[in-house]
Amino acid sequence: MFNSKIIGLGKYLPENIVTNADLEKIMETSDAWIQERTGIEERRHIAKGDGNSTSMMGVKAARIAIERAGLVPQDIDFILFATLSPDYYFPGSGVLVQEALEIPDCPAMDIRMQCSGFVYAVATADQFIKTGMYKNVLVIGSEYHSGGLDMTTRGRNISVIFGDGAGAVVMTRTENLSEGVLSSHLHSQGKYAEELSLIGPNTGRWVPEIMEANDPEDISYYPYMNGQFVFKNAVVRFAEVIKEGLEKTSWSADQIDLLIPHQANLRIAQFVQKKFGLSDDQVYNNIQRYGNTTAASIPIALTEAWEEGKVEQGTKVVLAAFGSGFTWGSVMIQW
Ligand SMILES: CC(C)(COP(=O)(O)OP(=O)(O)OC[C@H]1O[C@@H](n2cnc3c(N)ncnc32)[C@H](O)[C@@H]1OP(=O)(O)O)[C@@H](O)C(=O)NCCC(=O)NCCS
Repeated sequence: MFNSKIIGLGKYLPENIVTNADLEKIMETSDAWIQERTGIEERRHIAKGDGNSTSMMGVKAARIAIERAGLVPQDIDFILFATLSPDYYFPGSGVLVQEALEIPDCPAMDIRMQCSGFVYAVATADQFIKTGMYKNVLVIGSEYHSGGLDMTTRGRNISVIFGDGAGAVVMTRTENLSEGVLSSHLHSQGKYAEELSLIGPNTGRWVPEIMEANDPEDISYYPYMNGQFVFKNAVVRFAEVIKEGLEKTSWSADQIDLLIPHQANLRIAQFVQKKFGLSDDQVYNNIQRYGNTTAASIPIALTEAWEEGKVEQGTKVVLAAFGSGFTWGSVMIQW
């Protein structure tokens, strides 16, 4: 019998900082609007031609996580790569990481669960480790959003929110069943698949058909978000899935040392904090500096919290996410 635990963490953020004032220059928006609605002050965008890609950012975060775990890449038995912005339509980005890390042969699997991607990936790694199938699993969340956003006033409700970056953890087995991942809780509701989506091109409308139509009004290749509907569902689902984890572990809310919510919107995190009566110290937020980095947001935040000494042996950590799908989930960790 094994549990899984995190033994190494890393993050990578592109150097190029895009402030709200920078966005004011290219679309009709304002620093006040963005901060009031989302809490975001700045985000990182890959500078075109700087050599970064979704997989390469993941590799940079992974190298740090592997080194901090006291391992070398060849010790990794399995790669899980969570992203909604893979390098290619196919194959997935996980195999590109495997090649870049010079791991001769190990399974690499992409997880396409958007903002819940990292939570789904940790839960998946946990199951493979618990069964004994794999020992050291590299879990990456990485997103290159900026190149695919509508950076005009038309796309402002989405483009001001999202940023680029990557985070990674190494998980391994432990025989101590009172530490590590204690439980994970995953959900989805495809009924609302298109409320937060990027649908074109797709297998119902391939690229040649879109090119033939040559319709300037067709912007299905940009992300779409029904913002208020997403917000309303997010606050409900975050609360539900954290409660589910608390019930499973028999923890009370005041026993949570650190809640790391997916960095969707500071207002959503504040709503959840209030709902559970948590103090500022119990909730980690860094969306102010990075925006919403989707599958990368939790591993980036977890890494920063660990670097700041907020996560150490004995810390009770809750990861929770909600996003496109809709999908949502939580992971309860006794560090
Ligand atoms: C996106 C979000 C911030 C928008 O806030 P909102 O209060 O719902 O705003 P609305 O979409 O109703 O738009 C209000 C007005 O602001 C405008 N607006 C939208 N984006 C803007 C921007 N970046 N700058 C300035 N004005 C903007 C709208 O055009 C609208 O103008 P109108 O009243 O003249 O029509 C909010 O809905 C939200 O946070 N949703 C959840 C998003 C999220 O978490 N997504 C990730 C999930 S993982």
